[in-house]
Amino acid sequence: MTSTRCIRIGPLLRCDTKPQFFALLLFNSVFIHSALGLNYGGSENVDHGSYNEVQDVYEEETYSAPQMDYKNPRWCRTLSLPNGEVACSSPRGGGYTSTLGTRCLLSCDRGYRLLGRSSVQCMPNRRWSGASHCRKIRCHVLPLIMHGAYSCTHGFVADSRCDYTCAPGYQLEGDRYRVCQDAGKWSGIEPTCADHEPPKLKCPLSRVKVAEPGKLTARVSWDRPLVKDTADKTLEIFRNGPEPGSDFTAGIHVIRYKVYDQAKNRAACKFIVRVEVKRCPALKPPLHGYLSCSSDGNNYGAVCEYHCEAGYEKRGTSTRVCQFNRSWSDKAAECLLMQFKTDVRTAAALLDQFYEKRRLLIVSTPHVANQYYKLQNIMLQRAECGLDLRHVTVIELLGSPPREVGRIKGSHLDFEVIEDLRQAFRISRAYFTMVLVDEHGVDRERFINPTTSDELYAYIEDYLLTEEERERLEENRDFCE
Ligand SMILES: *[C@@H]1O[C@H](CO)[C@@H](O)[C@H](O)[C@H]1NC(C)=O
Repeated sequence: MTSTRCIRIGPLLRCDTKPQFFALLLFNSVFIHSALGLNYGGSENVDHGSYNEVQDVYEEETYSAPQMDYKNPRWCRTLSLPNGEVACSSPRGGGYTSTLGTRCLLSCDRGYRLLGRSSVQCMPNRRWSGASHCRKIRCHVLPLIMHGAYSCTHGFVADSRCDYTCAPGYQLEGDRYRVCQDAGKWSGIEPTCADHEPPKLKCPLSRVKVAEPGKLTARVSWDRPLVKDTADKTLEIFRNGPEPGSDFTAGIHVIRYKVYDQAKNRAACKFIVRVEVKRCPALKPPLHGYLSCSSDGNNYGAVCEYHCEAGYEKRGTSTRVCQFNRSWSDKAAECLLMQFKTDVRTAAALLDQFYEKRRLLIVSTPHVANQYYKLQNIMLQRAECGLDLRHVTVIELLGSPPREVGRIKGSHLDFEVIEDLRQAFRISRAYFTMVLVDEHGVDRERFINPTTSDELYAYIEDYLLTEEERERLEENRDFCE
């Protein structure tokens, strides 16, 4: 025996022959969509492989058949409804479920919907007045959600429960699950997967750098900060501050980074670059000399060179370097008074040695017992350091021949030299005189009375010192005290 399966397509019913599955009920030129196992009274099945128009079906008809037998317990075929229930009541009693006139109520199991009539009657033509079947209740296919998925206990049929999950980094918002309900509708509303988790941003460690040798800056590099986001793969990072590999000046620099994920969640981090300029203690210029230093004078790597003023000779190393451990290399150089030769034969030979280097104060007295000289001598002894600071060498011409003495500090001068000096600067032996000679050998001032050191200094400073010498003098003014 074959049966026919019919599928409704719009207003049409398409039927295919399928053994044992479906039966097509032909009734009053009307095709009835037959339910599984719903048998009808006719002995033969009608097969149709074509489209047939569906009209109003299942109208109950009353027939007057010639030989009606109300006692036949099998007037109509036994009614069965897969996935459903048939409850019949016969005029003849409960046991007669297929007698003529039996009325049956059809209902479907949970999860099934009745298609067709809910009540049929066994008719005189030995057929049931209608056909029905139970169809599994289905909900529509749940759409996929962005950044998420769902899994269902029984697909999209009634009572199936679909649980939603979100991709890593996303949080579920809304109903966590939806159930396919009896009416074929999903419970709840579609949830969404949202990214509320900010990315993770890790800045490099803060660092302290020492300015490079001979510089007040340090070049500092670092790796890009590490960024991670559970949801997004590629993230754009923004920097606020100098780029890696920049030269940083001394002090504290804050470098900030921030990042946004695609959901505009923000993360930020910062780190500090501190640049330290290592410095040595400032060097003091040597007495009678000065320093010239590279870079910033006393920063790490700075080189200082010692120079001596005219008339002074350098002793010791001429350059010192400020080292990493904040100490200077080597020892300070000294500027020592040049050594003059006093055993020369002429005044010219003597004066040549002082040319452009030293000034001379020639003190002449007829006798060491001279009152003016004695007074002046006391004052000059006290002024020795001050005169030296002003580059003045004292030459004494004392007494008269044959006991005449000429000397520079303890060194005696040749008689010829004394005579030459007296002539050159026109210095009489008859009275106390002091002559101040500049560094070019020109006599600039004469003193015939004892003169205080302050007066001498004032004169030298006002008329003889160069601008540069005056500046250095200011720096060392206290030296002699
Ligand atoms: C500083 O370092 C130099 C060499 O780099 C060393 O000779 C000197 O002793 C150190 N000075 C101090 C104070 O540590």
